Amino acid sequence: MLPLNESILRKERFNIGQIFVQRCIVIMVLITGLNMLLITGASGRIARRAAALLAQKGYSLRLMTRHPQQAPAVDGAEVVRGDFAEPATLDGAFAEVSAALVISGSGKPGERAQLHRNAFEAAVRARVGHVVYLSLQGASPRSKYPYSRDHSLSEQYLAATGLPYTVLRNAFYLDMFLEKFDVEGVMRGPANETRGAFVSREDAARTAAAVLANPPGGTHDVTGPEALSLAEVARRFSALTGRQLRYQSESGESGRERLRKREEASWRVDLAVGWFEAIAAGELEHTSDAVFRFARKEPLNIEQYFTLFPELLQSLRLAQDEDSGS
Ligand SMILES: NC(=O)c1ccc[n+]([C@@H]2O[C@H](COP(=O)([O-])OP(=O)(O)OC[C@H]3O[C@@H](n4cnc5c(N)ncnc54)[C@H](OP(=O)(O)O)[C@@H]3O)[C@@H](O)[C@H]2O)c1
Repeated sequence: MLPLNESILRKERFNIGQIFVQRCIVIMVLITGLNMLLITGASGRIARRAAALLAQKGYSLRLMTRHPQQAPAVDGAEVVRGDFAEPATLDGAFAEVSAALVISGSGKPGERAQLHRNAFEAAVRARVGHVVYLSLQGASPRSKYPYSRDHSLSEQYLAATGLPYTVLRNAFYLDMFLEKFDVEGVMRGPANETRGAFVSREDAARTAAAVLANPPGGTHDVTGPEALSLAEVARRFSALTGRQLRYQSESGESGRERLRKREEASWRVDLAVGWFEAIAAGELEHTSDAVFRFARKEPLNIEQYFTLFPELLQSLRLAQDEDSGS
């Protein structure tokens, strides 16, 4: 049995220790809260990969998704339901985050920019420290590609918030070619011989993750290492898949006529044809060093990317007939 004084002393030491630990926890929660990073569209491919990369480095993450059951399993990440189309769901998602990666959502050109504006306005209400927006190379009100015009409008909405921001203008993804060849192995569209600086989703995700963690501000093109014509792209995919693939140029009008036969929505036809027309206009032909500058890795070329992720080529190996936009 301890003498009474000794017992009181030990109790006090215990209490002081407990208070110290509690204060440390409060400070850690505060620090973590202040450094919380938000990623929207969490079940999407860029978001998933960016979240995994940031989680590996120990960042505190909040993942916003319209479908929490489809959210990626990321250790320690908070998952919240949020939809740009339902502004009331966005306040909780954007609350107390230091930086937010707003992944452009899906929708009709024009309507989509309004959805992004909802997200930016939620960021303003929550006083988010920095917003990173995933845009498209060549974003301009005069672009041939409807989504580029839409991204340009989104960028204007973001700038108008007055919040600090970084815009990452991704080149067209190399991955888009997996859906561009028809059953005969032909990719048709009015891109002519103009080149595009196509980027892999992996490099887009690495760059988005690095920028979210340490936002530089400004507007940056995020491209692959080289600018390629579609004929060259088809040759390189042929070598990778062992399938005879080729590019056949056509006029914008014949492209529209061909697609109208199987697609009723005229805006979808405009997207599919506009994708090629933007390339033809040289909107996406310049390479940039953003991947290396921010992610500290050289961007992957076609062969390096699909060697790293060979499963992606499966869809191209199996003949398919589908045109899509981005
Ligand atoms: N540069 C290009 O060539 C290219 C190609 C394709 C796409 N993109 C653009 O780049 C973005 C990221 O690419 P990705 O490959 O990761 O696309 P993805 O896999 O299709 O993911 C996009 C995600 O956006 C989220 N989203 C859609 N509507 C939303 C809404 N109303 N509110 C909130 N989130 C919404 C969805 O996430 P939840 O279901 O989890 O909510 C969806 O998974 C795409 O959204 C698209 O805008 C660019």
